[in-house]
Amino acid sequence: MFNPLLALFCSALLLASPAVLAQEQGPIVIKFSHVVAEDTPKGQGALLFKKLVEERLAGEVRVEVYPNSTLFGDADELEALRSNEVQMLAPSLSKFGQYTPQLQVFDLPFLFDDLAAVKRFQKRDKGQELLRSMAQHNIYGLAFWNNGMKQLSATRPLRLPADAKGLAFRIQPSDVLEAQFGLLDAQALRLPFAETFAALQSGAVQGAENPWSNIRSQNLDSVQPFITETAHGSLNYMLVSNSTFWNSIPFRTRSQLEAIIEEVSHAVGQSAERLNRRDRAQLLAAGRAELVQLSPAETAAWREAMAPLWQRYEGQIGADVLRAAQTVNRR
Ligand code: LMR
Repeated sequence: MFNPLLALFCSALLLASPAVLAQEQGPIVIKFSHVVAEDTPKGQGALLFKKLVEERLAGEVRVEVYPNSTLFGDADELEALRSNEVQMLAPSLSKFGQYTPQLQVFDLPFLFDDLAAVKRFQKRDKGQELLRSMAQHNIYGLAFWNNGMKQLSATRPLRLPADAKGLAFRIQPSDVLEAQFGLLDAQALRLPFAETFAALQSGAVQGAENPWSNIRSQNLDSVQPFITETAHGSLNYMLVSNSTFWNSIPFRTRSQLEAIIEEVSHAVGQSAERLNRRDRAQLLAAGRAELVQLSPAETAAWREAMAPLWQRYEGQIGADVLRAAQTVNRR
Protein backbone atom coordinates (compact mmCIF):
# COMPACT_ATOMS: atom_id res chain seq x y z
CA MET A 1 0.00 0.00 0.00
CA PHE A 2 1.29 3.49 -0.85
CA ASN A 3 2.55 5.26 2.23
CA PRO A 4 2.89 8.99 1.53
CA LEU A 5 5.02 9.58 4.64
CA LEU A 6 7.46 6.83 3.69
CA ALA A 7 7.63 8.16 0.11
CA LEU A 8 8.42 11.63 1.42
CA PHE A 9 11.11 10.22 3.71
CA CYS A 10 12.71 8.21 0.86
CA SER A 11 12.80 11.14 -1.55
CA ALA A 12 14.31 13.36 1.16
CA LEU A 13 17.05 10.75 1.68
CA LEU A 14 17.71 10.55 -2.05
CA LEU A 15 17.92 14.30 -2.36
CA ALA A 16 20.42 14.48 0.49
CA SER A 17 22.95 12.11 -1.14
CA PRO A 18 26.06 13.92 -2.45
CA ALA A 19 25.70 12.67 -6.02
CA VAL A 20 22.10 13.85 -6.23
CA LEU A 21 22.99 17.13 -4.54
CA ALA A 22 25.77 17.68 -7.10
CA GLN A 23 23.33 17.07 -9.96
CA GLU A 24 20.71 19.32 -8.40
CA GLN A 25 22.99 22.18 -7.46
CA GLY A 26 25.56 21.94 -10.22
CA PRO A 27 29.23 21.20 -9.71
CA ILE A 28 31.30 22.49 -6.81
CA VAL A 29 33.30 25.43 -8.15
CA ILE A 30 36.86 25.98 -6.94
CA LYS A 31 38.25 29.37 -7.90
CA PHE A 32 42.04 29.11 -7.72
CA SER A 33 43.69 32.52 -7.76
CA HIS A 34 47.40 33.25 -7.85
CA VAL A 35 49.79 36.09 -8.60
CA VAL A 36 52.39 34.58 -10.94
CA ALA A 37 52.61 33.74 -14.63
CA GLU A 38 51.33 30.39 -15.91
CA ASP A 39 54.76 29.21 -17.04
CA THR A 40 56.15 28.96 -13.52
CA PRO A 41 56.12 26.13 -10.94
CA LYS A 42 52.98 27.46 -9.23
CA GLY A 43 51.25 28.40 -12.49
CA GLN A 44 51.88 24.93 -13.90
CA GLY A 45 50.73 23.29 -10.65
CA ALA A 46 47.43 25.17 -10.73
CA LEU A 47 46.80 24.13 -14.34
CA LEU A 48 47.64 20.49 -13.63
CA PHE A 49 45.25 20.51 -10.67
CA LYS A 50 42.48 21.84 -12.92
CA LYS A 51 43.23 19.24 -15.60
CA LEU A 52 43.21 16.26 -13.23
CA VAL A 53 40.08 17.43 -11.39
CA GLU A 54 38.23 17.87 -14.64
CA GLU A 55 39.33 14.43 -15.87
CA ARG A 56 38.46 12.58 -12.68
CA LEU A 57 35.61 14.58 -11.15
CA ALA A 58 33.90 15.80 -14.31
CA GLY A 59 30.47 17.25 -13.54
CA GLU A 60 31.16 17.12 -9.82
CA VAL A 61 33.90 19.73 -9.40
CA ARG A 62 34.94 22.56 -11.69
CA VAL A 63 38.21 24.49 -11.26
CA GLU A 64 38.70 28.04 -12.51
CA VAL A 65 42.31 29.26 -12.47
CA TYR A 66 43.03 33.01 -12.32
CA PRO A 67 46.79 33.69 -12.77
CA ASN A 68 48.77 36.96 -12.66
CA SER A 69 46.68 38.64 -9.92
CA THR A 70 43.74 38.88 -12.36
CA LEU A 71 41.14 38.00 -9.70
CA PHE A 72 42.85 38.89 -6.44
CA GLY A 73 46.37 40.13 -5.70
CA ASP A 74 48.66 40.00 -2.71
CA ALA A 75 46.80 42.75 -0.90
CA ASP A 76 43.42 41.02 -0.80
CA GLU A 77 43.71 37.33 -1.72
CA LEU A 78 43.92 35.93 1.82
CA GLU A 79 40.91 37.94 2.98
CA ALA A 80 39.06 36.76 -0.15
CA LEU A 81 39.88 33.17 0.80
CA ARG A 82 38.70 33.62 4.35
CA SER A 83 35.39 35.04 3.10
CA ASN A 84 35.13 32.23 0.53
CA GLU A 85 35.17 34.52 -2.52
CA VAL A 86 37.97 32.30 -3.73
CA GLN A 87 38.50 28.71 -2.63
CA MET A 88 42.15 28.01 -3.36
CA LEU A 89 45.39 29.97 -3.25
CA ALA A 90 49.08 29.15 -3.02
CA PRO A 91 50.64 32.25 -1.46
CA SER A 92 54.28 32.44 -0.60
CA LEU A 93 54.92 31.48 3.03
CA SER A 94 56.22 35.03 3.54
CA LYS A 95 52.66 36.29 3.16
CA PHE A 96 51.14 34.45 6.13
CA GLY A 97 53.03 36.39 8.82
CA GLN A 98 49.91 38.03 10.25
CA TYR A 99 48.24 34.63 10.72
CA THR A 100 51.13 32.60 12.10
CA PRO A 101 54.59 33.76 13.15
CA GLN A 102 55.95 30.20 12.93
CA LEU A 103 56.04 30.24 9.13
CA GLN A 104 58.66 32.98 9.33
CA VAL A 105 61.16 30.15 9.70
CA PHE A 106 61.11 29.82 5.90
CA ASP A 107 62.23 33.45 5.49
CA LEU A 108 65.38 33.08 7.60
CA PRO A 109 68.33 33.61 5.24
CA PHE A 110 70.85 30.78 4.82
CA LEU A 111 68.93 28.52 7.21
CA PHE A 112 68.30 25.85 4.56
CA ASP A 113 71.20 24.90 2.29
CA ASP A 114 69.03 24.11 -0.70
CA LEU A 115 65.53 23.17 -1.80
CA ALA A 116 66.08 19.53 -0.88
CA ALA A 117 66.64 20.59 2.74
CA VAL A 118 63.49 22.73 2.68
CA LYS A 119 61.51 19.72 1.43
CA ARG A 120 62.94 17.44 4.13
CA PHE A 121 61.80 19.93 6.78
CA GLN A 122 58.33 20.24 5.26
CA LYS A 123 57.91 16.45 5.45
CA ARG A 124 58.89 16.21 9.11
CA ASP A 125 56.27 16.37 11.88
CA LYS A 126 57.09 19.99 12.72
CA GLY A 127 56.72 20.96 9.06
CA GLN A 128 53.42 19.10 8.72
CA GLU A 129 52.10 20.76 11.89
CA LEU A 130 52.60 24.13 10.20
CA LEU A 131 49.97 23.18 7.62
CA ARG A 132 47.42 23.30 10.45
CA SER A 133 48.80 26.42 12.13
CA MET A 134 46.14 28.78 10.70
CA ALA A 135 43.05 26.74 11.52
CA GLN A 136 41.67 29.42 13.84
CA HIS A 137 41.71 31.84 10.90
CA ASN A 138 39.69 29.48 8.72
CA ILE A 139 42.77 28.79 6.55
CA TYR A 140 43.32 25.13 5.80
CA GLY A 141 46.80 24.09 4.62
CA LEU A 142 46.63 21.37 1.98
CA ALA A 143 50.25 21.05 0.88
CA PHE A 144 53.59 22.78 0.54
CA TRP A 145 54.72 23.71 -2.95
CA ASN A 146 58.13 25.17 -3.66
CA ASN A 147 59.51 27.46 -6.29
CA GLY A 148 63.26 27.83 -5.90
CA MET A 149 66.16 29.59 -4.26
CA LYS A 150 66.04 33.38 -4.28
CA GLN A 151 68.72 35.46 -5.98
CA LEU A 152 69.42 39.15 -5.42
CA SER A 153 69.04 41.50 -8.37
CA ALA A 154 69.98 45.17 -8.45
CA THR A 155 70.98 48.16 -10.50
CA ARG A 156 74.58 47.58 -9.49
CA PRO A 157 76.66 44.45 -8.92
CA LEU A 158 76.30 43.07 -5.40
CA ARG A 159 79.37 41.08 -4.56
CA LEU A 160 79.65 41.74 -0.85
CA PRO A 161 76.98 42.75 1.69
CA ALA A 162 78.33 46.32 1.81
CA ASP A 163 77.44 46.74 -1.89
CA ALA A 164 73.74 46.72 -0.97
CA LYS A 165 74.08 49.68 1.39
CA GLY A 166 71.72 52.52 0.58
CA LEU A 167 69.69 50.63 -2.04
CA ALA A 168 65.95 50.07 -1.65
CA PHE A 169 64.73 46.51 -2.23
CA ARG A 170 61.21 45.36 -3.01
CA ILE A 171 60.19 42.73 -0.48
CA GLN A 172 57.24 40.49 0.24
CA PRO A 173 55.27 41.49 3.36
CA SER A 174 57.56 39.89 5.93
CA ASP A 175 59.20 41.30 9.04
CA VAL A 176 62.10 38.88 8.62
CA LEU A 177 62.78 40.04 5.07
CA GLU A 178 62.60 43.67 6.15
CA ALA A 179 65.09 42.97 8.94
CA GLN A 180 67.32 41.06 6.50
CA PHE A 181 67.80 44.18 4.36
CA GLY A 182 68.12 46.30 7.50
CA LEU A 183 71.20 44.25 8.39
CA LEU A 184 72.70 45.31 5.06
CA ASP A 185 71.95 49.01 5.74
CA ALA A 186 69.54 48.87 2.84
CA GLN A 187 65.87 49.83 2.73
CA ALA A 188 63.01 47.43 2.19
CA LEU A 189 59.68 48.31 0.61
CA ARG A 190 56.74 45.89 0.92
CA LEU A 191 55.04 45.76 -2.45
CA PRO A 192 52.57 43.36 -4.05
CA PHE A 193 54.20 41.04 -6.58
CA ALA A 194 52.14 42.61 -9.39
CA GLU A 195 53.75 46.00 -8.69
CA THR A 196 57.34 44.78 -8.61
CA PHE A 197 58.25 45.36 -12.25
CA ALA A 198 56.82 48.90 -12.31
CA ALA A 199 58.57 49.81 -9.06
CA LEU A 200 61.90 48.62 -10.42
CA GLN A 201 61.32 50.31 -13.75
CA SER A 202 60.45 53.66 -12.19
CA GLY A 203 63.41 53.48 -9.83
CA ALA A 204 61.19 53.53 -6.72
CA VAL A 205 63.26 50.51 -5.70
CA GLN A 206 66.60 49.42 -7.07
CA GLY A 207 66.73 45.79 -6.09
CA ALA A 208 64.70 42.66 -5.42
CA GLU A 209 64.98 39.00 -4.41
CA ASN A 210 63.36 36.32 -6.54
CA PRO A 211 63.94 32.83 -7.89
CA TRP A 212 64.94 32.56 -11.55
CA SER A 213 61.43 31.61 -12.67
CA ASN A 214 59.90 34.83 -11.33
CA ILE A 215 62.78 36.96 -12.61
CA ARG A 216 62.32 35.59 -16.12
CA SER A 217 58.53 35.46 -16.28
CA GLN A 218 58.28 39.07 -15.03
CA ASN A 219 61.09 40.27 -17.33
CA LEU A 220 62.90 41.69 -14.34
CA ASP A 221 66.22 41.35 -16.15
CA SER A 222 65.15 44.24 -18.39
CA VAL A 223 65.20 46.56 -15.36
CA GLN A 224 67.83 44.83 -13.21
CA PRO A 225 71.20 44.77 -14.97
CA PHE A 226 72.90 42.60 -12.31
CA ILE A 227 71.81 39.34 -10.73
CA THR A 228 73.88 37.93 -7.90
CA GLU A 229 73.50 34.20 -7.41
CA THR A 230 73.20 34.29 -3.63
CA ALA A 231 70.62 31.52 -3.12
CA HIS A 232 70.26 33.08 0.32
CA GLY A 233 66.71 31.91 0.88
CA SER A 234 63.94 30.04 -0.82
CA LEU A 235 60.50 30.90 -2.14
CA ASN A 236 57.96 28.41 -0.85
CA TYR A 237 54.21 28.24 -1.03
CA MET A 238 51.34 26.76 0.91
CA LEU A 239 48.38 25.49 -1.05
CA VAL A 240 45.45 26.60 1.08
CA SER A 241 41.69 26.51 1.11
CA ASN A 242 38.96 27.97 3.25
CA SER A 243 38.47 25.44 6.09
CA THR A 244 34.68 25.75 6.17
CA PHE A 245 34.45 25.33 2.41
CA TRP A 246 36.88 22.41 2.35
CA ASN A 247 35.07 20.54 5.11
CA SER A 248 31.73 21.09 3.40
CA ILE A 249 32.83 19.03 0.38
CA PRO A 250 31.34 15.52 0.59
CA PHE A 251 33.87 13.10 2.06
CA ARG A 252 34.33 10.94 -1.04
CA THR A 253 34.89 13.94 -3.32
CA ARG A 254 37.21 15.57 -0.81
CA SER A 255 39.30 12.40 -0.58
CA GLN A 256 39.61 12.34 -4.37
CA LEU A 257 40.62 16.00 -4.40
CA GLU A 258 43.22 15.32 -1.72
CA ALA A 259 44.64 12.44 -3.74
CA ILE A 260 44.89 14.73 -6.78
CA ILE A 261 46.61 17.39 -4.65
CA GLU A 262 49.18 14.83 -3.54
CA GLU A 263 49.88 13.91 -7.15
CA VAL A 264 50.10 17.55 -8.26
CA SER A 265 52.34 18.48 -5.33
CA HIS A 266 54.70 15.69 -6.32
CA ALA A 267 54.72 16.97 -9.91
CA VAL A 268 55.41 20.55 -8.77
CA GLY A 269 58.27 19.22 -6.65
CA GLN A 270 59.69 17.42 -9.68
CA SER A 271 59.39 20.33 -12.09
CA ALA A 272 60.29 23.39 -9.98
CA GLU A 273 64.06 22.91 -10.09
CA ARG A 274 63.95 22.08 -13.79
CA LEU A 275 61.92 25.23 -14.57
CA ASN A 276 64.29 27.40 -12.56
CA ARG A 277 67.31 25.88 -14.32
CA ARG A 278 65.64 26.47 -17.70
CA ASP A 279 64.80 30.09 -16.82
CA ARG A 280 68.32 30.77 -15.54
CA ALA A 281 69.76 29.49 -18.82
CA GLN A 282 67.28 31.47 -20.94
CA LEU A 283 67.91 34.61 -19.00
CA LEU A 284 71.66 34.37 -19.29
CA ALA A 285 71.37 33.58 -23.01
CA ALA A 286 69.24 36.73 -23.46
CA GLY A 287 72.21 38.68 -22.08
CA ARG A 288 70.24 41.59 -20.65
CA ALA A 289 71.52 41.09 -17.12
CA GLU A 290 75.01 40.20 -15.97
CA LEU A 291 75.45 37.25 -13.64
CA VAL A 292 77.50 37.83 -10.50
CA GLN A 293 78.76 34.52 -9.14
CA LEU A 294 80.13 34.49 -5.63
CA SER A 295 83.25 32.78 -4.36
CA PRO A 296 82.84 30.63 -1.22
CA ALA A 297 84.40 33.43 0.84
CA GLU A 298 81.95 35.99 -0.59
CA THR A 299 79.00 33.68 0.11
CA ALA A 300 80.29 33.29 3.67
CA ALA A 301 80.29 37.09 4.05
CA TRP A 302 76.58 37.29 3.06
CA ARG A 303 75.78 34.46 5.42
CA GLU A 304 77.60 36.10 8.28
CA ALA A 305 75.84 39.40 7.64
CA MET A 306 72.36 37.85 7.60
CA ALA A 307 72.48 34.90 9.99
CA PRO A 308 71.97 36.99 13.18
CA LEU A 309 68.27 36.92 12.25
CA TRP A 310 67.99 33.28 13.31
CA GLN A 311 68.46 34.20 16.94
CA ARG A 312 66.48 37.40 16.70
CA TYR A 313 63.38 35.53 15.51
CA GLU A 314 63.74 32.38 17.58
CA GLY A 315 61.24 33.66 20.19
CA GLN A 316 58.52 34.33 17.60
CA ILE A 317 59.09 31.23 15.52
CA GLY A 318 59.58 28.87 18.43
CA ALA A 319 62.81 27.14 19.43
CA ASP A 320 61.32 23.73 18.56
CA VAL A 321 60.50 24.75 14.96
CA LEU A 322 63.89 26.40 14.50
CA ARG A 323 65.77 23.37 15.88
CA ALA A 324 63.83 21.03 13.60
CA ALA A 325 64.70 23.22 10.61
CA GLN A 326 68.37 23.31 11.55
CA THR A 327 68.68 19.53 11.47
CA VAL A 328 67.74 19.01 7.83
CA ASN A 329 70.91 20.25 6.12
CA ARG A 330 73.38 17.58 5.03
CA ARG A 331 76.55 19.45 5.92
C1 LMR B 1 56.56 37.40 -4.48
O1 LMR B 1 55.70 38.18 -4.05
O2 LMR B 1 57.70 37.75 -4.81
C2 LMR B 1 56.21 35.95 -4.62
O3 LMR B 1 55.52 35.55 -3.49
C3 LMR B 1 55.39 35.72 -5.85
C4 LMR B 1 55.01 34.26 -5.98
O4 LMR B 1 53.91 33.91 -5.61
O5 LMR B 1 55.86 33.52 -6.48
